Amino acid sequence: MSLISEHSINLNIDLPKGNVNAKMDIFYNPLMIANRNISILLLNSLPNKNMKLADPLAGSGIRSLRFLNELTKDKITELHINDNKENFSKTIQNYLTLNKIKKPTNLFLHNQEASLFLNQSKGFDYIDIDPFGSPNPFLPAAVARISRHGILAITATDTAALTGTYPSVTKRKYWATSMKNYLMHELGLRILIRKVQLQGIQFDKALTPILSYHKDHYFRIYFQSEKGKERCDALVKQHQYFLFCPNCLNYTSSIHNKETCDCKQEFQFAGPLWTGKLHNQKLITTMNKNNPFPQEQKFLNLLQEESTKDILGFYDLHEIARKLKINPPRIEPFLKQLPAVHTHFSPNGIKTEKSIKEIIQEIKK
Ligand SMILES: C[S@@+](CC[C@H](N)C(=O)[O-])C[C@H]1O[C@@H](n2cnc3c(N)ncnc32)[C@H](O)[C@@H]1O
Repeated sequence: MSLISEHSINLNIDLPKGNVNAKMDIFYNPLMIANRNISILLLNSLPNKNMKLADPLAGSGIRSLRFLNELTKDKITELHINDNKENFSKTIQNYLTLNKIKKPTNLFLHNQEASLFLNQSKGFDYIDIDPFGSPNPFLPAAVARISRHGILAITATDTAALTGTYPSVTKRKYWATSMKNYLMHELGLRILIRKVQLQGIQFDKALTPILSYHKDHYFRIYFQSEKGKERCDALVKQHQYFLFCPNCLNYTSSIHNKETCDCKQEFQFAGPLWTGKLHNQKLITTMNKNNPFPQEQKFLNLLQEESTKDILGFYDLHEIARKLKINPPRIEPFLKQLPAVHTHFSPNGIKTEKSIKEIIQEIKK
């Protein structure tokens, strides 16, 4: 048993010699600290107050324990922690004692199947779905229980299923076609966003992404939920195909998946997927200003820069250089020259409204 410290919380956990895994008595993944840091920063940066929070797949409960200690006092009216592991409530009680936290009266411990726990509740202003693999089994209940203006946080670690390794799995589980090339992480993220939005639309809930990213081995999206048929219709209009030309590296979006590029090559397609914004720029700016976690600063800076050109797709300077059989331009001066911004999806990626033809002209200058 080792004592682990994660910011304000200590846990005693048996960590396996190899990778963390679902068989652990109490699940804790040290690689997900950034995921938890960002959830705390995001909640503290939103204007939402007096929230009922749900952590239905809590593992060791680390996220919720940190919420208790690190969210500003006006955020929580109720905090519900659930996991279906045996002895879960006892584990959390022990951690409260270890951390000298007197069990608050607004903290509720549950030990059930996650969807059952959500379905039996009246609704939540924040729900964090953090499963092993796909969030699919928990989406209907989570989407049904998220309140007006509520925040739904989704993690997916089944990245291979979304990035073109198993195209039939993407179709079956995410109702879309994936694409395996340098764009696969952005496209996988957007396929997942649409899948979650389709669940919401059934209940007239429009789920708008306010922060969306790919990091390490997972996707993470925060949605804000609003009610309304018109809002849902507006979201669906932004579900389109991504069209990519492997010949000239041009890309675009369309409601059709069979189109031909200007260079006469037939486009490859991915989708349908979300073609709208990935982030709320104001929120990221506030998060950047408020950030108490120095280890997340670089990533937040990158997201903030990306949010200034929050558009579909990006170009990869190394891919372009390979096509042209030249050395790639140095990225920093080239970003200024275009102009363009970095993207968190790739260190060689650039987001710009310019066309591939314009980019090649600039490279040749
Ligand atoms: C990836 S871990 C959660 C990690 C945790 N949220 C954190 O930040 O450290 C997934 C957890 O979900 C629990 N779990 C898996 N399927 C479940 C289900 N159907 N109902 C309730 N809990 C479930 C597992 O026991 C495991 O602890």
